[in-house]
Formats: sequence, structure tokens, C-alpha cells
Amino acid sequence: MRILVTPEYQTLSQTAADLVINAIRNKPDLCLALPTGSTPIGMYEEIVRQYREQHLDFSGVRTFNLDEYLDLAPDHPQSFHTYMRRQFFDHVNILPANIDIPNGTRGIDAEAESERYERNITRVGGIDLLIVGIAANAHIAFNEPGSAVESRTRAVDLAPETIANAQLHFGNEPAPTRAITMGIGTMLEARRVLLLASGAGKADAVKRALRGPITPAVPASALQLHSSVIAILDEAAAPGEST
Ligand code: GLP
Repeated sequence: MRILVTPEYQTLSQTAADLVINAIRNKPDLCLALPTGSTPIGMYEEIVRQYREQHLDFSGVRTFNLDEYLDLAPDHPQSFHTYMRRQFFDHVNILPANIDIPNGTRGIDAEAESERYERNITRVGGIDLLIVGIAANAHIAFNEPGSAVESRTRAVDLAPETIANAQLHFGNEPAPTRAITMGIGTMLEARRVLLLASGAGKADAVKRALRGPITPAVPASALQLHSSVIAILDEAAAPGEST
């Protein structure tokens, strides 16, 4: 694993965006796996800025989102579908047909939806570059503590701390308690992985993920099994790591 420690969130976002844009330049039909959350917002903004300034073409790019809440309509303001449109898809020329986000609509057959999503990843030849954040409980996508290293895309129950975090965005409406997530085994099949973490609230999870034993109790520790991971961290998230 390569660890890049950048001074602050802004430089982290810039470094991640540069890496993604270079990957698209080198392979215009790049297949990306994309995260949500607060951490990647700066990266998306910087990618969109460079896309506009440099008149880039993303029409060959394919994307798979890592996860989506279950029992939530795709057009709900807090869905990851909506997040992705707002932060990224509405601002670049990625074709709607090249976008895949698990469908968490209430009543959906989550098992069939998970199988459809996995088949689609296989059909396009796999993921070239997977970008992922980490939660304070060290979950990646929605693979909560206890998730097996070989897990595949599936419906999961969210951890209490994850539901509590989500609730901050859902106001008076109860936050979802379940999600569909790409599995850790599926994630480890991506050709390259980019892990992003920012802020002191992530420092403990980052340390356990990068330096601790590989264990389902720390889902992000599974990334140590992958041969091509770059972790881009800001200093607050990486005390003790050298820059
Ligand atoms: C959610 C997402 C994760 C993300 C995590 C951390 O749980 N499913 O993919 O890594 O939030 O989010 P943030 O970047 O807001 O700390």
C-alpha cells in the first residue's frame, strides 16, 4: 500500500482528482467505482473544474456506485442517486447508460438487484479504479464490522452508529436502517484502489485499517490484501504517518 499524506483536505481532494483524471486520460473507457459521503465532495468538485477547464470527454467512462440505502426512492433528496447527480453526474458528460447505482427502492428484490449489479461489473470487464472512503467504525462502502473479506454485493443492516450519522441528514424522517453494498470481495477484485480519509475523526480507523491486523472487525483492513492501493490522507487523519 502506498500512503500519501497531504497537508489538508483541499490538497487531498486535488491529489485524488488528478489521479482520477490521469486514469481517464490513459483509458477513456475507464471503469470507476465511486463513493459518497462528505470526504469525496472536494474531489468531485475538482474533477468537474478540470473537466470544464480542459474540455475533457467522459463519454466512454463507466461508473458503479459502491452502495445505496434500501427502502429509499432513488429520487429521495438523501439517496446516493441524488448525491451523485448533484455532485458529479449533472456536471459532466458521463452517459446515463454507463452509470450503475444499486436500486434501493422499497419492495425491490435486493438479492436479484445485487446479482444484477455484480453481473454488470463482470459484463464490462471489471473495475479499473475503485475509490472508497472510510467511516469512523472502519466500514468501507456499507460493509460494517463483521463483514467477511470474501463478501459479495448484498443487502446489509446498518450499524447503529451508521444509522445515527445518517439521521443527521434525514431531519425528522427516520433514516434508513438497511442498504445494498458492494462486497469486500468484489471491491478487492478492482484493479486499483484509492482510499480517501480526512480529519481527526478518522485517525483511529485509518490506523487500524492500515497498520492493524486484517480482521472482519475492521472492514477496511481487508484493503491490506490488495496489491495496488493508494491511501490519500490528510495530516489530521494520519498522525504518525510521515508526509
Ligand atoms: C457512508 C458511505 C461510505 C463512506 C462513509 C464515510 O457510510 N456508505 O462509503 O465512506 O459514509 O463518510 P464521510 O466521508 O462523510 O465521513
